[in-house]
Amino acid sequence: MSIVTNKQLLDHAKAGKYAVAAFNTNNLEYIQAIIEAAKELNAPVIVEAAQSEIDYMDGYAFTAIVRALAERKPIPVGIHLDHGPSYEEAVRCFRYGFTSVMYDGSALPLEDNIANTKKVVEAAHACGVSVEGEIGVIGQAEDGPEGPQNDNFGLADPDECERFVKETGVDCFAAAIGNAHGLYKKEPELRFDLLAEVEKRCQVPLVLHGGTGIPEADLRKAITMGVSKINFSTVMRKGCIETLTETLNSNPGELDLMKLLTPAKDKMKEIAKVHIRMCMSDGKAW
Ligand code: 13P
Repeated sequence: MSIVTNKQLLDHAKAGKYAVAAFNTNNLEYIQAIIEAAKELNAPVIVEAAQSEIDYMDGYAFTAIVRALAERKPIPVGIHLDHGPSYEEAVRCFRYGFTSVMYDGSALPLEDNIANTKKVVEAAHACGVSVEGEIGVIGQAEDGPEGPQNDNFGLADPDECERFVKETGVDCFAAAIGNAHGLYKKEPELRFDLLAEVEKRCQVPLVLHGGTGIPEADLRKAITMGVSKINFSTVMRKGCIETLTETLNSNPGELDLMKLLTPAKDKMKEIAKVHIRMCMSDGKAW
């Protein structure tokens, strides 16, 4: 097994009560670190990239690298567009060879989010590609004075979630439950009551964004309540940048770029392993 869709990955995860770790990426070392970590732990994994990351790498080059590395490793791997901003970007990703796309219409009125997501789902399913949607607004942790919002602002409404899933046909979706992207200023307070209500009303696997900094116990609890994909980005970039800085500072004048990048790659691999274990997906390759 090598390249598969997120629907295949998440349906298996939901049934097995674990989550598939999804890591954002934007360069070769990053992709190697993710796939090597998953391979060593015999875990399914999702390699994902947002539009800016795809543009940086080139979409065709990105999918070619993931496929080349995954095909020599007997683990299931999904290639996913994170926070797709438009129908057009989703279509470009079909051509690049992605197996899953997210369409993020969460900032739009519900009617528009439903209409646009449905259009992406119709095209994606015709090409055998999975779709992730978003309900509520999952912002940046740094935007709130004390980290993610703890009031009702931006939280997913279970009625809207139910309607969204029924009317769009999405394979999975991200609901805002007190999580945010980036570095939380204080420990996030996930709304498990809301998660339980959403899970009760929607049959599809759920996605948790903003994985960086959510305590392991909360991640595991969320998994037992139907979360089947967890996104991690900041933690990997932070580890990479810190290690690269240390290496550069302690090796002035070194001109072998591979020597300078290897410790950062090893650090990302170590971080990926920690988070795969948090998702309880180690040993779950199928
Ligand atoms: P973090 O950067 O907080 O880990 O969030 C990643 C994410 O949710 C990408 O969509």
